[in-house]
Amino acid sequence: MDELKELDGILENLDEDLKNCNDINQLAKTKADYLGKKGPLANVMANMRNFSAEVKKEIGIRSNAIRKAIEEKIEEKRNNIEDALINAKLESEKIDVTLPGVKFQTGVIHPLNQIVMDLEDLYISMGYTVATGPEIETDEFCFEKLNLPKGHPARDMQDTFYINPELLLRSQTSPVQARKMLEEGGKPLKIICPGKVYRRDADDATHSHQFMQCEGLVLGHDITLADLKGALLEMARKMFGKDREIRLRPSFFPFTEPSVEVDVSCGMCHGKGCSTCKNSGWIEILGAGMVNDNVLRMNGYDPNIIQGFAFGIGIERLAMLKYNIDDIRNFYINDVRFLEQFKEVK
Ligand code: DAH
Repeated sequence: MDELKELDGILENLDEDLKNCNDINQLAKTKADYLGKKGPLANVMANMRNFSAEVKKEIGIRSNAIRKAIEEKIEEKRNNIEDALINAKLESEKIDVTLPGVKFQTGVIHPLNQIVMDLEDLYISMGYTVATGPEIETDEFCFEKLNLPKGHPARDMQDTFYINPELLLRSQTSPVQARKMLEEGGKPLKIICPGKVYRRDADDATHSHQFMQCEGLVLGHDITLADLKGALLEMARKMFGKDREIRLRPSFFPFTEPSVEVDVSCGMCHGKGCSTCKNSGWIEILGAGMVNDNVLRMNGYDPNIIQGFAFGIGIERLAMLKYNIDDIRNFYINDVRFLEQFKEVK
């Protein structure tokens, strides 16, 4: 019977068609071609009324089986197509984790910031807090409240940039001392104040119109020069090595009395004398002293009750000594070759 032959041929044709089916859309079309209203099964069914009950039954059973087989084959093909898609995706997104990575250029902490951070670490560990003040400062705080009245000869060393006769770029971090003293109103105090300062200097290998300092101020009961020496010895050893010594020499600063210049023992010759320390065995690193009674009084403290010490560290000077740098301008010109050398340093 033609119909039965036709039914037999359906699955063979489907196999052929499925071979050429490469994606889900094609598959959907093939499915519609075979199982849809105009498909071969529907076609056979449309002629059913022409057959005897027996044949109808036979055709019914066979076409149901074929329908099931068509559905299974299409499902299997769908799985194959989807697997192939996933495999192709996996293949194209494959990462070889053993390949060398892309190197990013990383920055480095600027040596001056590194010194400031080291100082902060050290002094915070000794109970100090970090204070800051404005870089545009008044004449009053930069000089007068530090015992440098107008016309004082010590002002000559600290000529700076004036915005007007009363406002200037601070020439030292010392004004933060006065500001914090007034804020504390006579109470004990233990601060460091790192920051930028300015002077009307021509730039050369050892001078810069802008540089950095770190002020220190400790006020309390019974604070002595021995405490100052201890605080600075710790600093010198942290910065330059445990075997270093410091030496205090008499000096003059208007805001301290007595005042000292502090030297660290030379790391090149260990005190014997060499070209680095100009044969003295010592290298000057900072100025310090016991806070002058006038400064205490002017800033709200009673020198009979509270005394203390102050110091002023030049950050560039420390960095130049620590890292053996011979020209201060290297810190500011932003030459990556210079800065990159500090990647390994700490
Ligand atoms: N301000 C001083 C300067 O710039 C450094 C200094 C010396 C600061 C002695 C102090 C100090 O606090 O006690 O030269």
